[in-house]
Amino acid sequence: MSGVADEPDGATPLDPDEREGLRFRHVTTRGELNELEQANVQAGLLWLSRRRNSDVLNEHFMRELHRRMFGAVWRWAGAFRRSEKNIGIDPLHIAVELHTLLDDARYWSAHRTYTPLEAAARFHHRLVAIHLFANGNGRHARIAADTYLKECFGHPPIDWAAGHDLLHTSERRNAYIAALRAADKGEYGTLLKFVGA
Ligand SMILES: Nc1ncnc2c1ncn2[C@@H]1O[C@H](COP(=O)(O)OP(=O)(O)O)[C@@H](O)[C@H]1O
Ligand SMILES: [Mg+2]
Repeated sequence: MSGVADEPDGATPLDPDEREGLRFRHVTTRGELNELEQANVQAGLLWLSRRRNSDVLNEHFMRELHRRMFGAVWRWAGAFRRSEKNIGIDPLHIAVELHTLLDDARYWSAHRTYTPLEAAARFHHRLVAIHLFANGNGRHARIAADTYLKECFGHPPIDWAAGHDLLHTSERRNAYIAALRAADKGEYGTLLKFVGA
């Protein structure tokens, strides 16, 4: 049995304050928590599919998407991270860096700076590198990148998991994390290959 604090490589551990935000007192294992989160994420995806298309490249949408994906499980869902993590920038700079990224992403789609998949890969990487929230950043940023693809480029979503499991240790997850780490150093080739660009 693994505790709620056990995370695969490349995940964000929660501090005690954040764990206080769990809406279910009875949860003791990572498996139970994953199931609750997974059900919440499904509800978030349903909300996303039903919402009227409106601009996604703004702070409100980024936060609302996270709240819809995780708000039934975590009280702090949709609120920016306030503590330092092993991944991500100083929490004080999150809003400013997010706004810069959203402006860049808008420019990339308006000027076709990159192919749609490259723009989405770069958007995804920068979003997880900022690390907006205490947890759920990978899942949120994958859906956010797919929504950017759909609404700004009319492009189908990325096959992130490719039939594998991205949430637990797997070959696919290792390749994904390795591609993000290369992108941290400015090398996007591996991530582009990963997303099928
Ligand atoms: N070195 C890295 N550089 C950029 N992003 C990373 C790195 N390592 C992990 N990540 C991202 O952070 C995510 C883990 O953060 P977390 O908030 O726990 O998301 P989730 O709970 O959805 O898995 C990974 O899925 C990945 O997207
Ligand atoms: Mg996590």
